[in-house]
Amino acid sequence: MANQPLEREHFGSKIGVIMASAGSAIGLGNIWKFPYEVGKNGGAAFIMVYLACILFIGLAIVIAEYVVGRRSGANAVGAFKKLAPRSLWWLVGMLGVLAAVTILSFYGVVAGWTFEYLFQASKNAFVGKSPDELNTMFNTFVSNPYRPLMWQLLFMLLTCGLIYSGVKKGIERYTEILMPLLFIVIILLAIRAVTLPGGGAGIRFLFHPDFSAINGDVVLSALGHAFFSLSLGLGAIITYGSYVSKSDNLTAISIEVVLLDTVIAIMAGVAIFPAVFAYGIEPSSGPSLVFKTLPNVFQQMPGGMLWGILFFFLLGVAALTSSVSLLEVVTAYVSEQLNIKRHLAIFLSALVITVIGVFCSLSQGPLSHVLIFKHNIFDLLDHLSANWMLPLGGMFTSLFVGWHMKKSDLEDELSNGGLLKVSALPLLRFVLRWLAPLGIFFVFLYNLGVI
Ligand code: TRP
Repeated sequence: MANQPLEREHFGSKIGVIMASAGSAIGLGNIWKFPYEVGKNGGAAFIMVYLACILFIGLAIVIAEYVVGRRSGANAVGAFKKLAPRSLWWLVGMLGVLAAVTILSFYGVVAGWTFEYLFQASKNAFVGKSPDELNTMFNTFVSNPYRPLMWQLLFMLLTCGLIYSGVKKGIERYTEILMPLLFIVIILLAIRAVTLPGGGAGIRFLFHPDFSAINGDVVLSALGHAFFSLSLGLGAIITYGSYVSKSDNLTAISIEVVLLDTVIAIMAGVAIFPAVFAYGIEPSSGPSLVFKTLPNVFQQMPGGMLWGILFFFLLGVAALTSSVSLLEVVTAYVSEQLNIKRHLAIFLSALVITVIGVFCSLSQGPLSHVLIFKHNIFDLLDHLSANWMLPLGGMFTSLFVGWHMKKSDLEDELSNGGLLKVSALPLLRFVLRWLAPLGIFFVFLYNLGVI
């Protein structure tokens, strides 16, 4: 029975699928990682490459993952085993499970930081503090050996709780109200930010590309972040796809999710960069950027304390609906492939991930001297998973659907058995067979200095 899904449920409605998938896509990637990648990689030029990666590579692979998931009705590894028995394709799923473990280990740490900031906001701790003091506040917190661990543990427990209550019930309910609310708060923040004195420089940084800033590392980071932000390349969408009902339009769902995700990231950029420049914060500060910047903005808003509370609460929730999809990939694999009871699988998966996460957290303080290939543990896992594992997984998924899957099967899946028109099929197949895999391959070669 190893390949039989045990208790498979289906999302209630199309809107439920979109909400859950958008809940997975929209998270710390949009609001924490996107701004710091933009800041580190020179601004607008990075954004252009990022958008190109989404349009020419990401979108097609999102569709491909949904197809693999719904057609097989199985988890990331089981899906390949089912659609390509007696072959090595399942290794792609395995790479995905490893990537999910890696990502969630540092994701849980950052999500923990949002809890600390929610706590600080509710104590009104930002008020009256200068940008310098807020900077010190962050550094003191992350280098504390215990405090971040406590929040990380809480976050991982909440993630387990959500998965425990079932994917459908766990996510649909939470995203339907809170995600639109997050969107509104970001828009209001953006409006406040662009009207800050000196904020114009931030808008220039975001929208006036300096193409000389582009190099191999920038292109790889943009590609990697496109995958990270879309929750792509490790089988999360395969797993969610396996819960999508046969009557939903996979192409339409993919386009909607990709659009939502991209709009939110850009809006977050608009909310953050004017403030970065207005308060003289270093755009290339890295993972701390958002935490050092936004508390300055909250203070400038009427009812500042409430904005901080609302924002960090919603960011924490957005992180949860994303982490659920990561833990679901690992849990579905452990329970369905290794035949372990689902409850135990959740616990074991989360335990391993949390322990690795402890090292990520400590690498911001007590273990900051431990460098591997010039990166601390946190940056190494982030870099390795987002920039290498995800695009690699995506490349193989693209090849799988483009070359291994029969054209008629792909058509059947996209048209819901002939009910929908799929005029874009030739274009999609071209992208999956050639454009996306070759694009990723050349970015790898470029980055390795081969070309
Ligand atoms: N996309 C999420 C974010 O932007 C992170 C995430 C959730 C993810 N599930 C994933 C990234 C699967 C890669 C693969 O925060």
